Amino acid sequence: MSTNNYVTAFAPASIGNVAVGYDTLGLAIAGAGDRVSARKTESAGITIKEVRGLDGEIHANLSVDPDHNTASIAAHALWKAHGDASGVELIVLKGVPLQSGMGSSAASAVAATVAVNALLDNPLQKPELLPYALEGEQYASGGLHADNVAPSLLGGLVLCPTSLLPDAWSLPTPKGISSILVHPDMQVNTAEQRRNLARSVTVDQWLAQQGYLAGFIAACERNDADLIRRCLKDVIIEPQRKSAVPCFDAVKEAALKTNALGCSLSGSGPGIFALSLDAEAHNVAIAMEQACRTMGYECQSWISPMTADGAYLED
Ligand code: HSE
Repeated sequence: MSTNNYVTAFAPASIGNVAVGYDTLGLAIAGAGDRVSARKTESAGITIKEVRGLDGEIHANLSVDPDHNTASIAAHALWKAHGDASGVELIVLKGVPLQSGMGSSAASAVAATVAVNALLDNPLQKPELLPYALEGEQYASGGLHADNVAPSLLGGLVLCPTSLLPDAWSLPTPKGISSILVHPDMQVNTAEQRRNLARSVTVDQWLAQQGYLAGFIAACERNDADLIRRCLKDVIIEPQRKSAVPCFDAVKEAALKTNALGCSLSGSGPGIFALSLDAEAHNVAIAMEQACRTMGYECQSWISPMTADGAYLED
């Protein structure tokens, strides 16, 4: 962004839950993200000058009211705790589709905290920004979970159990494995999906899912693609949510038939992700897209290394 005195940060989209770890595990993706520019103003408070989409036009669905935008809410939290008497003006460039299951609200919140951090007299370390970005995310999703914010901030695969927040840990990623994310052209409201979840699970479900989570993390550390294939499953959340994404079963079947290691909803959907060997990722993406279109949904896809970068300041 060419405007004077602004600093600009980019924050990537992300895959929440990664099938095995509801609210607990997240993965950054490459190629999609939000940009937030920030500059100091004489008058106190956080304002948003404009929100634009990738087409350069004023965003039709996002407010410049600072009380109703995840970027300004996160920026406000950080500035209130560490800023000075001046104010901050933001410009938001939305690159992540809204209500896509791609961590759209998190990307705005993270980009805002990284940009505003650069305006502080004593900027914080990146991991220290997590609680402030979380305030924006919490406004949007109605719950406290860092599985989009943490990978968007730190990059790669991040473990962020709600019970241990604000701590989060970057995990080793397996070599030679890519993520594929397909976004069917529809919207799913995360807050509503969260409200609708059953409040209890059986011991059998809990046992299976904690085994898959632990096994998946071990498999990533050991570069064990076969173990990833055995573990990349969600027996609790996916069955409850998939009906909100009518193309889900067909897309998942297409991914698995093309030798994907696993496939599930990205966050609360409608995004659908798969992991596959690098060499097969292109075929998996094509098969998933075809299945999606056959079901009547236009779509877009991204193939990423599991080591995708987290948020950064742009020159
Ligand atoms: N973990 C969150 C959920 C992610 O599944 O509700 C939302 O994108």
